[in-house]
Order: sequence, then structure tokens, then C-alpha cells
Amino acid sequence: MLVAVSFRNVSKVFESKAGAITALDDVNAEVPAGSIFGVVGTSGAGKSTLLRTVNGLESPSSGTVQVLGKEVTALGGADLRALRRDVSMVFQHYNLLNSQSVAHNVGLPLILAGTPRAQVKKRVAEVLAMVGLESRAENAPKQLSGGQRQRVGNARALVTNPKILICDEPTSALDPITANQILDVLMKVNSELGITVLIITHQMSVVSRIADQVAVMEHGRVIEQGDVAQVFAHPQQELTRQFVETVVPQKLPLAIEQEVHSGKFNRVIRAVHTGGAARDLISDFGAQGVHASLLHASNAALRRQSVGTVVLGLSAQNASLIDASLASLSNRPGLDVEEVN
Ligand SMILES: Nc1ncnc2c1ncn2[C@@H]1O[C@H](COP(=O)(O)OP(=O)(O)OP(=O)(O)O)[C@@H](O)[C@H]1O
Ligand SMILES: [Mg+2]
Repeated sequence: MLVAVSFRNVSKVFESKAGAITALDDVNAEVPAGSIFGVVGTSGAGKSTLLRTVNGLESPSSGTVQVLGKEVTALGGADLRALRRDVSMVFQHYNLLNSQSVAHNVGLPLILAGTPRAQVKKRVAEVLAMVGLESRAENAPKQLSGGQRQRVGNARALVTNPKILICDEPTSALDPITANQILDVLMKVNSELGITVLIITHQMSVVSRIADQVAVMEHGRVIEQGDVAQVFAHPQQELTRQFVETVVPQKLPLAIEQEVHSGKFNRVIRAVHTGGAARDLISDFGAQGVHASLLHASNAALRRQSVGTVVLGLSAQNASLIDASLASLSNRPGLDVEEVN
């Protein structure tokens, strides 16, 4: 696996009059090159601080951040400027110049780098087309909607042809439909241009929709990280569970809860499945003489597969049939079965 960014024992302490604040506490994480990497966590967990170390906007108090094989903390002057061309940032509040046209805003990083006019014009047209705003080049930012302004911000970040795109809550101020358009742009640049995307979000639905990997932060620490499907299927930490719950509900509705305890079934199981592993579950039980009633199901479509849970009430003439059928499922890839009590 090629690694785009690696954080090793990264800590950051802000000194202030009110005392020291530990924003990052021994963070270790690796972002695979070409992936979309989501960072979630509660407010103040250190997400923005962490991603700001990637382009040197923030420097760690201790530990190292390697980006595209270079240690950011060791870079100065020209090397840091070169890194910032490779690592672009999209801000939540767009940071656009209102007195200038959309085209000028988008081209600014190139203009500042002294790129010839004609070349700027050509590249600006390309990136505006990429985000679907080719017809708005001569508008002022204030003539655009919030979602369109966010796309201008994306276009400006893309104009230097970066290898890594950092997005700090790019969708939090947008309605869900406009937010999805932004996420589609991010997926497009990731899959078509191979750009590694690091995205901070408060919404687990954003992670489920676009991310390959996710890191969960709390109090300056990464408390859990991994493949999105794995984390959604088997969250280990309480905070992660709460985040996952917002997309794949685990809690049973009261009426179902009552049915579980009604004595109607011999056993009740919950099966967590990824990649369609539960597709034939009910008929598989049937084939082994076990009647399976579907009590509850929830499902989330991830970027590359789906993850979900089903709760089944099992009944059979003979309890040993249930034992045998459950035993036969114990090694099925992508399926984890537990008893519901
Ligand atoms: N320049 C600074 N000086 C002092 N403290 C800071 C500074 N920047 C961040 N902090 C503190 O570091 C902690 C982490 O902040 P950070 O902005 O990284 O959190 P976050 O996870 O991005 O939160 P949010 O979801 O609200 O954006 C907070 O307690 C914050 O107050
Ligand atoms: Mg933040």
C-alpha cells in the first residue's frame, strides 16, 4: 500500500493564558494514497488541527507528519511552497474574494505563482467544467448559491493539480441535495484523477457515502480507525457506536423489542453483514428446518459495498436444528451472528 500521509506520534499543545490545551495527543494514522479518508469526531476533538499539520498550517509539538514521502516539519521556504501546491485545502466558508470574478478566484493560486495568463485561463476553464460551473466564470461569488460557492472553492483547490485535497467540513452548511453534489465532485476527482481526499465531517452519512477509510477522534486522540465497512460493521468504541448508529440503527423499535421477549421464538439473532452475505439467510435457515422471521433490518450503502443488520426470530421443531444451522453460519465471510437477549 502506498501511503499519502502518515501521522506518527503526533501531539499538539496550544499554550494560552488560560493554560495549555492538548489538541492532539499521540495520533498515529496512515492515509492510503488514492483513498478518501474521513475524519469524524465531536467538536474540539482536534480534527482541524490534525489536517492542518498536513500542509504545514500547524506544526506538531512532537511527532512527525510525512506527506508524499516528505517530512512536513523539516520543510522550509520553497519546499513548503511546493508541498502546498501538492496539498490543497477547501475551507468551510469558501474564503472567496467578493470583488473578483469566479474565474479570478479560481485562478488565483496560479496567478500568484506567476503562471502565464493564457495557461491560467485554460486551466480555470478545465476545473470549472470539472465542478459543473463553466457558465458562471464571470459571475461574482455573491451571485452564486452556497453550494455553488463551495464548488468554486473546490475548483480553486483543484487548479494547481494537487495530489491531496483536504476538505474541512465542506458540506456542513449545505442542504442534503447540494451536499451530495459536492460529495460527487470529491468522488469524481478521487476516482478519475487519483487525488487522495482527506475530509473532516460531523456526519457519518458523509463517511458512509464516500470514504474508504475512517478515523474517529475524541479529546485529541484517534480512538478508532480502519476500513469503513469494518468500522460500520463492528464499531469498537462507544463514540464510534454512536456515530454508526446514526446511519445503521442498532436499537430495536419498542414493539419489536417486546416481540423479541414474547417467547414466540426459540431464539432471536442479530446478524451483521457486509457485501450481501445475508442475502439468502432466511432460505438457508429454511433449508435446515428452521423457520426464520424477519423482525428488523437496517442497511447502509457504503461507497463500495453495503453493510447492514437483520434481526431474525428463529423457531424449529427441535432446538438442535437451530444449533446446527447457526454452527453452519459461523464461518461465513462477511457475516457475524450474535444472540439477542
Ligand atoms: N490556535 C489555537 N490556539 C489555542 N487553542 C486552539 C487553537 N486551535 C485549536 N485550539 C484548540 O484545540 C482543540 C482542537 O481544536 P480543533 O479546531 O482541531 O477541533 P475540531 O475537532 O476541528 O472541532 P470542530 O468540529 O468544532 O471544528 C480545541 O480545544 C481548540 O479550542
Ligand atoms: Mg474543525
